[in-house]
Amino acid sequence: MSENVSVMQRRLELLPVTAAYQPRAEGDEGLELTIGGCRVRALAEQFGTPLYCFDAATLDAAAEQYRTALRRWYPAESAVTYAGKAYLSRAIVQWAQRHDFWIDCTGAGEIGIAAAAGAPPQRILVHGVNKSEEDLDAAVAHAGVIVVDNLMELQRLALRLRNAENQPTLWLRVRPGVAVETHAYRQTGQEDSKFGMSPQEALQAARCCQEQNLLLRGLHFHQGSQFRDPSPIGLALETVLDLAATLSAMGWRMEALSPGGGWGVAYHEDDLPHPEIETYVRFVSQAVVEGCRRRDLPLPKLHLEPGRSLVARAGVAVYRVGAVKQTASRRWLFIDGGMADNPRPALYGARYSALPVIDPERSCTGPAWIAGPYCESGDVLIEALPMPAIAAGELLVVPMSGAYHLSMQSNYNGARRPAVIWLERGNVTLIQRREMLADLLARDADLNW
Ligand SMILES: Cc1ncc(COP(=O)(O)O)c(C=O)c1O
Repeated sequence: MSENVSVMQRRLELLPVTAAYQPRAEGDEGLELTIGGCRVRALAEQFGTPLYCFDAATLDAAAEQYRTALRRWYPAESAVTYAGKAYLSRAIVQWAQRHDFWIDCTGAGEIGIAAAAGAPPQRILVHGVNKSEEDLDAAVAHAGVIVVDNLMELQRLALRLRNAENQPTLWLRVRPGVAVETHAYRQTGQEDSKFGMSPQEALQAARCCQEQNLLLRGLHFHQGSQFRDPSPIGLALETVLDLAATLSAMGWRMEALSPGGGWGVAYHEDDLPHPEIETYVRFVSQAVVEGCRRRDLPLPKLHLEPGRSLVARAGVAVYRVGAVKQTASRRWLFIDGGMADNPRPALYGARYSALPVIDPERSCTGPAWIAGPYCESGDVLIEALPMPAIAAGELLVVPMSGAYHLSMQSNYNGARRPAVIWLERGNVTLIQRREMLADLLARDADLNW
């Protein structure tokens, strides 16, 4: 097997599970990429580029892995909450409901999307480190669970809940003092993190709930995102279960416990294989069971809160190469998207890979710098990636594009957000249309000076 074929075969593992190179249509020689039974080249022609595709089979497979692992390793009740911050649209909320998943929302906007998509209140959970009045109103109106970040928020909530028709239950977000190993921008569990309460503050919050008859039912922590080593969860659990034991001595029962989400994925062929979902679920389950046993606590309902490990691999970004440029030591491939639809490389050096849509078996001719059209030198999606000769007009796909791209995208340089399509058993559904100039203008006053 030539070196190039093996590189491209490894990159195929980053694409959705249904991805395959098949003989080209229309009698042309060579191979072309299909995803979910659909030809990517035809999709790019129909919907334009940049284009984001979600493969339903890949989403379903990840959901099944979570469900199966929880059934196998956690002997009490459990639930999966999809972390909507990874990517939220009505379609993904409706997909999550197919699997009986809860939806984690941050802020009134995400709550509004989940509610509009028909998620029932008992499956909407609300996070947020500085919830505005509007956020709290939306949470009280639509959510089943509000995760309280701090003592001031609890006071504001208590006032609201006094006369509210809806009475969401409350969980406390605990800051366990230990983060997972990941980029500093994605760590959240450390002592001086902006998220959550110290165990002492959480104790105070629990007393306050008791005094004010608030429905405190659970404890939550989240130590960071995109990690592969689950062991820091064990350390955090010690702290959080100690708190649960103290509260238990005061007569409170921890009905729900969530160690958040954050399990990692492989973004580049050098990161393969993908971390096993079962490894994570098994570790968490065993640590909770053992920790509760040692403290004589009944097993709580275990809520896992994954985002990227459910949706990252299902998403593929399709770009068209507009121009190729050679500078002193770099071959540049300019594509029609970049930091506006995927800010992660510029934000924290996230490393991606790419494949040509047609004829992946061509020999690599050397490294390429794949850059977007935006006015920032940091608008480089991929650096020094071995690639074959690529001509202007060709299509490239960037795998692992389902999480934290579309939810973080911007209109920088007037970029219009790309169309998003859903691929399922050979069928294509447009789930988010491409933005148009009219969308950009719709918010602008015309002062007519
Ligand atoms: C509270 C909380 N839960 C869950 C997640 C999901 O993380 P991931 O998408 O890495 O699984 C995040 C991500 O930042 C988070 O802040």
